[in-house]
Amino acid sequence: MMRSRKPLVIIMIGPPGSGKGTQSSKIGASLGIPKISTGDILRAVASEKTLFAESIRNTISSGGLVSDEILATLIKSRLASSDCENGFILDGYPRNTEQAIYLESLLSEAKYYIVVVEIDLPEDVLIKRVTGRFSCKLCGAIYNKYFRETKKKGVCDECGSLEFVYRSDDSEVVVTERLREYARQTLPVIDFYKSKKMLHKIDGNKTACDVYTDLMSIFSQLNESAGQ
Ligand code: AP5
Repeated sequence: MMRSRKPLVIIMIGPPGSGKGTQSSKIGASLGIPKISTGDILRAVASEKTLFAESIRNTISSGGLVSDEILATLIKSRLASSDCENGFILDGYPRNTEQAIYLESLLSEAKYYIVVVEIDLPEDVLIKRVTGRFSCKLCGAIYNKYFRETKKKGVCDECGSLEFVYRSDDSEVVVTERLREYARQTLPVIDFYKSKKMLHKIDGNKTACDVYTDLMSIFSQLNESAGQ
């Protein structure tokens, strides 16, 4: 659908439950570029049986952020993979200004076409979205007991699996802490990109389908103006 001269990099920013993961998967599939979720990468590391994994598990379960040094190593190695050559979507990175500055050192604007999107949503909706979330254990498809049940009860729409998982950090207590961290550490990242005129804000309080349409229209418009 889109023809950009440079590989497209989409940076998705938004509070817990705003729909970054849901939208990144849909957009990635439409544009044929990978979604890179630092939360997913960290949860995979955290599931191992090592002391390092345990420390990451503890940080995630408390609602805090994992250290910038660990994220720098993970993101640098992931972006070096060949599937990122034609662009990618970052879901959950950068999360503070230090990470945003580090990311700039990895992505030169001469090489990539970078678009930053902020998904905005009221806090009461966010809490319901997070506490109602469950995912397919096999393919990772994301559902919600309030907003998006599986079509057939107990069966994943995408892969037919019967097993689902809940995240340890999706309790109301932990999500309140994650929202606090978002306000403290991630809101300055929004100002960082706003000052560079790279930010596009969208209303996330719509159906997933409508949010997707709004996002795709931003990318199409940018693509058209880049081609003029
Ligand atoms: P991460 O996994 O990135 O969590 P998050 O940013 O808190 O975001 P969520 O995954 O909770 O929400 P989302 O916006 O992706 O929403 P989703 O699409 O699932 O990070 C987890 C932890 O890892 C962090 O707390 C931190 O400890 C660590 N970490 C990660 N990155 C880090 C970094 N860079 N630096 C340091 N630490 C890092 O949707 C939510 C629910 O709503 C779902 O059930 C979905 O079905 C539903 N939904 C989605 N859209 C809609 C809609 N439009 N209408 C109705 N329901 C919807």
